[in-house]
Amino acid sequence: MYLGLDLGTSGLRALLVDASGALIGSAERPCAVAHPHSGWSEQNPAEWIAACEGALAELKARHPKELSALKGIGLSGHMHGATLLDAAGAVLRPCILWNDTRSAAEAAALDATPGFRETSGNIVFPGFTAPKLAWLAKHEPETFAKVAKVLLPKDYLRLWLTGEIAGDMSDCAGTSWLDVGARDWSADLLEKSGMRRDQMPDLVEGSEVAGMLRPALTSDWGISGPCVVVGGGGDNAVAACGVGCFAEGDGFVSLGTSGVVLAAKGSFAPDPASAVHTFCHAIPDTWYQMGVILAATDCMNWLSGNLGKSPAELSGLLGSRIDGPGAVRFLPYLSGERTPHNDSRIRGAFTGLEIATDHAALTQAVMEGVGFALRDNYEALKGTGTDLSRLLAIGGGSRSRYWVELIATLLHIPVDLPEAGDFGAALGAARLAMVGHTGATPADIMTRPKVAETIDPRADLAEAYETAYAQYRALYPALKALNP
Ligand code: XUL
Repeated sequence: MYLGLDLGTSGLRALLVDASGALIGSAERPCAVAHPHSGWSEQNPAEWIAACEGALAELKARHPKELSALKGIGLSGHMHGATLLDAAGAVLRPCILWNDTRSAAEAAALDATPGFRETSGNIVFPGFTAPKLAWLAKHEPETFAKVAKVLLPKDYLRLWLTGEIAGDMSDCAGTSWLDVGARDWSADLLEKSGMRRDQMPDLVEGSEVAGMLRPALTSDWGISGPCVVVGGGGDNAVAACGVGCFAEGDGFVSLGTSGVVLAAKGSFAPDPASAVHTFCHAIPDTWYQMGVILAATDCMNWLSGNLGKSPAELSGLLGSRIDGPGAVRFLPYLSGERTPHNDSRIRGAFTGLEIATDHAALTQAVMEGVGFALRDNYEALKGTGTDLSRLLAIGGGSRSRYWVELIATLLHIPVDLPEAGDFGAALGAARLAMVGHTGATPADIMTRPKVAETIDPRADLAEAYETAYAQYRALYPALKALNP
């Protein structure tokens, strides 16, 4: 038996699978995000532990026999978060998350420092880890002085699981301190950030064993023998393992809290100027590129909170087939934007509202706005020479067939919907544990899911959506002028 722990922004999922990767059981617990100031986004690491304890207690109650045969655990986590520990291992302040843009000035300064883009392969985005520490040094110097370790969120969970301090290549690639081509910490980038190597975790590959489950947890969870914990990875890399996306030409579109268009790469091929991200994959000698929008289902959650209807109720208003763009445009920059604008100050907007605009029209506008932003990401990837002939749809938002058909039509490529359940990152984490525990090759374990439906672009509506996309593109400069 293997366990995948997927620490997402909105909660933790624990997925138990057997040695063939077949589902035994799954349990979830929510985690809250605090936004104490505009552009801030924080989470209390104690919540991750509580969520893990809760999910495991549920799995133990439902599948005690299977859980007792657990051999390995893999981890997936939301990336870039700064979890800061003092010399005694205590958490110094709430974790500053990936969609927190308070460190925009520090990010711009590091980004302009020679070496960062070249070595890390990426723009230093405000959500990345290095600028957060620069912000801390300036605004909370007493806390900064106490930082003994900087851990990514899932690596804090690992510390609790194993007692080991380790990070994996794919997640650490999002810190701006890693030499992403060489898969090692960059002494140069650390020094230019005023950080030290001893403040970083040791590095492992995602499928490498990084420690053993602590005896206290082995006994609490009723596990009968030793249980390895592998490196795991950043959520998008691990989701890619969950859907067998690691060869050149493989790609997916993810509709999670953030939105991602990802392409696997057999070599390190960065293009920082385009705001495309290039990170290590969670398996050795592999990389990936992606465009990232900061709010995808987050936009639906925001709308749902304001209209008092659940996201499922709202998307239900639209049915399962698109029939042309609405009159209302929405720009999904609720937390600023990464690809293609790298603009932490930009904020969202509705245009074209009228008396007749109802909940369905607002929902349609939000889904279209996210779709247009993903088209921007797809264009950015294409601009680097990446060629994708089809995409797989993953993430909670892919439960809306309407949204997936809209994306297929906007990107002009077929989008495959996987069969049965969306266990992307949790399954990918369990698969990394299988590879680490058995020594199997990733290709043997990380197969592609069966496709339930291929959703083709709607040629009959292509032109209408193209016109709406051009209108959407024209609105960014206008919003930018409001918030330069
Ligand atoms: C990737 C990114 C997000 C988070 C949260 O760069 O910031 O995808 O990992 O999902």
